[in-house]
Amino acid sequence: MDYQVIIPAAGQGKRMGAGKNKLFLQLQNQPIILHTINIFLHDKDCKGIILVIQPDDEAEFEEMLDTLPLKEKITIVYGGSERQYSVYNGLLAAQNAEIVLVHDGARPFIQLEMVHQLVASACEAGAAIAAVPVKDTIKKVNNNQVTETIERKSLWQVQTPQAFRFDLLFQAHQQAKQDHYLGTDESSLVERINYPVHIVTGSYDNIKLTTPEDLYFAEAILKKQSVMK
Ligand code: CTP
Ligand code: MG
Repeated sequence: MDYQVIIPAAGQGKRMGAGKNKLFLQLQNQPIILHTINIFLHDKDCKGIILVIQPDDEAEFEEMLDTLPLKEKITIVYGGSERQYSVYNGLLAAQNAEIVLVHDGARPFIQLEMVHQLVASACEAGAAIAAVPVKDTIKKVNNNQVTETIERKSLWQVQTPQAFRFDLLFQAHQQAKQDHYLGTDESSLVERINYPVHIVTGSYDNIKLTTPEDLYFAEAILKKQSVMK
């Protein structure tokens, strides 16, 4: 089943503290964002990659993408001040898609098998997201005092990719825009228009590179994935 992917890459990487967009940091001699892009570039079901960037990063992105085969599959659009606005700009460029996937540029370890499961599920049910069961006990805290322990078996840690029928996601984004609602993922926007979202069990390897210590885990995951190839 064909799909298009929107890759938000327009953040600043503040928590990584690298003084630049963290997606340009190298992992095994390749920028993080290239690891992510390459996964989709070589998937024949992926008909288009919409890469959302900040104008300040454009020259560096252009230079990097210039080296790629199949680079005509990539469309660059500008992002906004929040991730949600960046994804919305991506959606405007993906108007002819039936199924659209949103996948963070900062998650370079996604496997195509997972992508295809999500696309199939979105095709059937409209909305499907990758998630893994929470391993830790999670508590609600107020002023350093525990107020509640949430039952763990109902908690899932949500990742990207998140896959949707294009019309559904576009409608959810437009509604959020109209209501000035800002969510932290696409699913939350779809949930609030009362559309059921399916979970596809993902992998604990599909981490988002957020803080410096994530780079150690990243090296280990890459090593494991290269052994498995
Ligand atoms: N992103 C985006 N537009 C924004 C903010 C984030 O496209 N205005 C992208 C990031 O580039 C990243 C993904 O959304 O690929 C997930 O965001 P996050 O991990 O929070 O990255 P940053 O926002 O760059 O990092 P930080 O929050 O630490 O500044
Ligand atoms: Mg951010």
